[in-house]
Formats: sequence, structure tokens, C-alpha cells
Amino acid sequence: MRRLYNAAVFFYPRFYDIVWTMNADELRQKFLDFFEKNGHTVVPSSSLIPDDPSVLLTTAGMQQFKPYYSELDPEKTIHPSLGKPIGKNVVSVQKSFRTSDIDEVGDDSHLTFFEMLGNFSFGGYFKKEAITFAFDFITKELRIPISFVTVFEGSHGVAKDEESRAIWKKLGVSDVREQGIEDVFWGPTGSAGPCGPTTEIYCENAAGGKAEIWNIVFNEFYFPGSREELLSGSSGKSLERLKTPGVDTGMGLERLAMIAQNKKNIFETDLFVPFFELLPSELPEREKRIIADHLRGAVFLIADGVRPLNKEAGYILRRLMRRALVYEYKYKISPEFFISIMGETISNYGKFYSQLVKESENIRIEFENERKKFRKLLPHGLIQINHHIALDQELLKKDSPNINKERALSGFQAGLFAFDLFQDSGFPTEVSKELFEQANYDLTRFEAGVLEKAKKHQEISRRGTEKKFGGHGLLLDTGELKAADENELKIVTRLHTATHMLQQALREVLGPDVHQAGSDITVERTRFDFTFQRKLTSEEIKQVEDLVNQKIKEDLPMQKKVLPKSEAEKTGALYFFKEKYPDPVNVYFIGKDLENAWSKEFCGGPHVMHTGEIGKFRIAKEEAVGAEVRRIRAVVE
Ligand code: SER
Repeated sequence: MRRLYNAAVFFYPRFYDIVWTMNADELRQKFLDFFEKNGHTVVPSSSLIPDDPSVLLTTAGMQQFKPYYSELDPEKTIHPSLGKPIGKNVVSVQKSFRTSDIDEVGDDSHLTFFEMLGNFSFGGYFKKEAITFAFDFITKELRIPISFVTVFEGSHGVAKDEESRAIWKKLGVSDVREQGIEDVFWGPTGSAGPCGPTTEIYCENAAGGKAEIWNIVFNEFYFPGSREELLSGSSGKSLERLKTPGVDTGMGLERLAMIAQNKKNIFETDLFVPFFELLPSELPEREKRIIADHLRGAVFLIADGVRPLNKEAGYILRRLMRRALVYEYKYKISPEFFISIMGETISNYGKFYSQLVKESENIRIEFENERKKFRKLLPHGLIQINHHIALDQELLKKDSPNINKERALSGFQAGLFAFDLFQDSGFPTEVSKELFEQANYDLTRFEAGVLEKAKKHQEISRRGTEKKFGGHGLLLDTGELKAADENELKIVTRLHTATHMLQQALREVLGPDVHQAGSDITVERTRFDFTFQRKLTSEEIKQVEDLVNQKIKEDLPMQKKVLPKSEAEKTGALYFFKEKYPDPVNVYFIGKDLENAWSKEFCGGPHVMHTGEIGKFRIAKEEAVGAEVRRIRAVVE
């Protein structure tokens, strides 16, 4: 299916040359062979889950070698997967994962998962050899010209890197640019570690693809704090010189493939094209890229033992899968597409990373399970967001004194909301962000909103949840009922039970995708918002009305059972915002017993004792409030 070679014609200053471009498998192999030939031991990639507890995921090839720069003797320590010492000079192709760029994925160059080609030395060689190896590999083995290189300009007590500049010049690279500590000084990673100035190689191809492809780090120092502390210069900690300076290099395979295969961006390389061939062609390019990146990343994370959870690496995996699943839902992509992309990842990469093949069944199972879980929450999440947006738009239009206009289209408010939604239904905040973005929100303060709510949430959990929602008093639990006197209270209580019945009837007539998206009860009417994509026909409205009235006639008991929240969820009872209800929770059900009840909901009450008390139920109005949210006003007579 894939072409092994692509012929490309490059223009060189004085002659034309035919270059057979290499596919990614060949590039990996060529890299390992080149360094092996030059006295390096080939070390397999370590897991994406590092041994170092101060970092969440492996972000670079040097991660597994970190202790060799300061503590371990590379000629004595037995390496766990090689079963012998690795020696002073090593080479690897490392699975790597960076979350820092997750929001950028979809543009021409950012990825979460990527592969890093790297050669390393722990006291074996230093600047001259490292730069010469890189120069030879790029310009002689791959026959790619170097556009320019960068070197460290000096700061934070570290001298300008004149030595590297001189080496490059001698090799014939004339464009040597100076840069600062932000760009050309690596590390440390995690809470402390080796670090030092770097020199970076930039290339360009005839198709217009440009990239910084190789980063060569000269680990001369050890910093006993984090990179932030180093940069701030005010931590009181200082750089210590390493006894034996080392080399750590990293070259992203995807970028190298882009340059070597004469492509404009990484997604045109053979590392991604096969995925795109498996996706429906009408999908927008950005979404295709995100899906390909996220599914590929998910496959690798699962193979290394990560499972979707709400924290740490598990949360990252969950975010990847759920974001892809949102697109699957939104664009109505049939489930086989994602399964075949994951299959393609396994077969494409399995030759090099055999773990993928071993774990292929787990990969499939984990993905299917997560899909099942998220599919239950997804429509609800989308509806909530659409509802929030619809309300904002309404706020902008109306000129009512009770309306807080500041809320409308505010990224901060959207952030608060997105955190709640994540808490409530595991809906990833960046997916919410994307939807708000499409609705033209100014999202500069979105993250601030998310953080603010997260902080509040932590405080609340600390104080204990029992006081959170009052819980005493007749009307406080749901905040839905307001009544001035006993008489009004009777009416709103009848309307309240009728609202539960309305929801159940809607689900029966229109299908189980119907979910509550809001409600408000006054003494005049109940107003119920729910998820549905189109206007109801008059026939459907009548069916819903009739069904409620029939259940009223049956005079069914409305009963309450107090259950631990986790058990309450298992009963299949409906809820609006799970967070809203204290644990244990009241499940109100209509019918003789909970199991066979006609309607079940988490609720704070109050309700009638028997449906017969409601009287006659009538739908007064049905209208749209958002793209997928409908509103019904109903009365009891
Ligand atoms: N650690 C450096 C990087 O990640 C070089 O490998 O860029």
C-alpha cells in the first residue's frame, strides 16, 4: 500500500542530484547503524512511564539515561533491558510524549507523542565529536544541507559557547546564530538534574518544509532545582559543574522525515499518511491531525500500561481518547474508523516496538471501554455547553435588569463552567474550550476560570461535602422550587412531580438521547429544557402529554429512597448535575418499587405522594433555546 521510495529532485548550488527519500523505518535504522558503526551501544527505548517520579511521562531520549550523567557508572552498572553495562556512548530511538503542546496539535508541527532519535555520551566525547557526528549524519548520510545552527549566547553565569561556533565554522557551516537561555540551554527536567548549553540544527527542503531538527545538549552542569528555579535566578540554588561532562542529543523522527521526504509538514510523511487514508475524506484537516496524533499517542500509552483515569498519566490518556471520541460523535464517524487507525498504528510501529503487538488486545479493550463510558456522558456534555452558549447569546440580546451581562461570552465564566462539566461528567476541558472558541468566546481567561473553580472545588472537598448544598429546609435542595405560602407550595410541588414525568415521557416518545438541560418552576408553570435536535411535531407533543396524563390517571405512588451516590447511579436514575446532590442521595421514583419504576431521578424534592394529585397536565409551548436544546413550558390544571 505504501511506496517505499519517493523520488525527489533537490537543487544544490552547483549540480542536480537525485535523492531517494527514505521512509521512517529506514531513517530509524540508518540512525542506529551510523552511531553503532561509530562506537555507540544501541539501547532500546524505555517506557513512556519513567522511573523518575518527578516527571509524569518520558519527554526525551535522555530521560532513561539521566542518572548516568551524575550517579551511575555506565561501564559498571547493569542496564535492565540489555543485561550488561551500556558503556560511555549510546544511541537510541525513544518513545516520547509532551503534554506542553497539546493545544497546538492540529497545526503543521506539534504533536503529543513522537519518537526521538538520540546519541548520548557520559564522559566519552564532547563538543567536537558530537557536532561532527551530527554534521556527518545529516549532510553525508542523508545528504540534507544544513540551513543554519544556533549556539548559546551566554548568561546565568555560563559563558558564551565560542567553542561550538568554531567547530561549526570549521565544518563549513557559516550561518551560526546566537540565542539565549530560553532556547538553547536544556534542562533540568523534573525537580533537579543535568543541564547545559545546546546547539541546534535547522534544515529546510525544496517543498518549503522548515524545522529545527536536532538539538545537541552539552551537559556540563547539574542544577539542584527545577528549570523554572534556574531561569528565575532567585532560588538561591546554583549550577554545579559535572565531574564528567556529557552529551545528550535529540532529533524528532517526524521532523526529520518531513525534511528528508521533502514534505511541507509532518502530516504529509509516511508516519501519518496511512492514518489519513483511513479517515473519512470530508473531515476537516485539523480534526484529522488531532485524531491521528491522539489515537497514535493513546495506543502507545496503553501499551506501556497506562489506563484511562482521572489523574496523572491516566488523565492524559483519557483526554486523548475523549477528544478523539468527541470528533467521532460530532462528525458521525463510524466506530470502525478509529479501530482501524489503532490497528494501523500497531502494525506500522509493531515491527520496531514489539510491545504494541503484545498489547494489541488490551489496547482494543481499553479503547472500547472508554468509548462506552464516554458515550454515555458525551451527549449530555455537548448539550450543557450548547445550552451555556445559547443562554449567553440570549443574554446578549435581552435587556433585562436581572441579567448578568458580564457572563455573556466570557472566557473566565466558560472556564468555571468547563471545570464543573469535567467534574460532573469527565468532559475534557480542552474540548469545552474548543467548542467555546467556535462560538467566538474570548478565551484569554479560560484557564484562569478553570483553575479558580478547581481551587474552590479542592476547598469544598476539604471542608466536606455535607454542608455544600444546605440540605435542610423544604425547598433548598434543588433550588428549583420557590413558593410564597402553603398554597403556592402545593402548586409548585405538583409541577415538580409533573416535570419528572415530562422528562420520562419525552424519553419514551423521542428516545433516550433526551436529557435534562435545565429547569425552572414557578407557580404559573414548569419550564423544562432538554436535549433534542429538532422541533417536536404536534403529534409528538400530544403523545407526550397523553402519556403523562395516563400515568397521572394510574395514580402511581411517588416514593423516595436514600442511597449512597455510587449505588444510586447504578439504579439508572437520571440526574442533571451529579455534583449538585449530596452523598447519600435521594432517588425519587414513580411506581411500586425502585427496580420497576416508571421514572427515577436524583432529586431534593419535594414531591406529591401520588401522581393523581397533579390533576391535568398540559404542554403550553415548545421552542428552541439552542442548537440542540428545546424548551417546553407546561402547566397543571
Ligand atoms: N534532551 C534534549 C531535547 O529533548 C536533547 O535530547 O531536546
